[in-house]
Amino acid sequence: MSQSSDTAKDKSGRRYPLRMPPGWTPPYPSFMSEFDAARRSASMVVMGCQFEDGDRATAFEFVSRMVLLAEAEGKADHADLSSCEADSAGRAQFVMTGYWLKPDALEHFFESAAFQTLWQRHSAEALPHGIFREVFNVPLERFETLHSDPTHLVGVAHAREEVTDPIDRHAYWGSMRDRIPASADNPFDPSGTIEILEQSANRILLRPGENLAVIRSGQDLGGVHGQEREEYYGEVEPVLNAGMAFLRDQGAEVNCLDCRYMVFVDGSGEKTDHTFGLAYFRSLSDLENWSEHHPTHLAIFNAFLEFAPRYGPAMKSRYWHEVSVLPAQSQIAEYVNCAPGTGLLSGL
Ligand code: HEM
Repeated sequence: MSQSSDTAKDKSGRRYPLRMPPGWTPPYPSFMSEFDAARRSASMVVMGCQFEDGDRATAFEFVSRMVLLAEAEGKADHADLSSCEADSAGRAQFVMTGYWLKPDALEHFFESAAFQTLWQRHSAEALPHGIFREVFNVPLERFETLHSDPTHLVGVAHAREEVTDPIDRHAYWGSMRDRIPASADNPFDPSGTIEILEQSANRILLRPGENLAVIRSGQDLGGVHGQEREEYYGEVEPVLNAGMAFLRDQGAEVNCLDCRYMVFVDGSGEKTDHTFGLAYFRSLSDLENWSEHHPTHLAIFNAFLEFAPRYGPAMKSRYWHEVSVLPAQSQIAEYVNCAPGTGLLSGL
């Protein structure tokens, strides 16, 4: 499929038709976060510290301090704290994921003295831990979310203006693309490779290629007890863990540039029962192919289809995701003292 301006539009005005089957009625309800029509974009930052055992306290201090700064001085609309036991370089990470809806607000934060002081303090050569920031300016016409529970506030949902009624465009393969408004006219073909913008002894600044797909896909078992909890951890979590390990260790086979199996942590750095996968794919088609065809996501999907109907609307566990497809100019990432292969460095 190529992005051609003379591709004919269908009756609904789309150049690329929906994959939703005619007369489709989804078998279970799902919802999307909504933003004011006047909003054009939101910024999302994945900023963290990569460390080995001895440096855990320093890493946690850096990232939790960054969350405080982002919320207080940086005027972030939301920032959360998570950790990863083993990234693609075999190291651990604490990560802040922050969202800014106001244009330029993130840039002001990055320029602030408070941010610069903290960043520079952890940027010296030969420090045993690394720091990084992966910065995405997300055009909202290239963004979609999906929530099993409309009241579940997580990630960008903390900053949303509204939530939809139950939607039709879900529960069939291709529904993720159908939920992204710009997919009507844009096939989001990938182009270009990761470009190094600046490089010094311990630092790399880079820009990924056109149409990188970013997904945060989560499952919240907080407050879930008894049989549902046992079955989730017995049947679903093991295949989820295997899928995340495949994308992290063999992701190149499916054009996944990086995957981290993350868990939200509390203010002391203790793990919660709420996990998510954070993955970067070369393109939306690559993410679609993995989810629709690869045995690792199909195993997750099928385990869930066995598990969920036992509970139906009484199910307490909650599921969500956020997906964006990004122009190259909307992305930049910086790694200081990080191991080779960390994050988007894996694509070099
Ligand atoms: C779609 C289950 C984890 C990627 C779906 C759907 C289900 C599902 C039921 C269909 C949703 C709908 O449209 O109503 C699960 C469960 C997970 C899980 C139970 C964890 C316990 C993940 C992770 C990723 C992922 C970690 C990626 C990092 C996707 C994608 C789709 C999808 C991209 C959309 C496919 C499309 O619409 O074309 N998954 N999944 N999933 N999942 Fe998963």
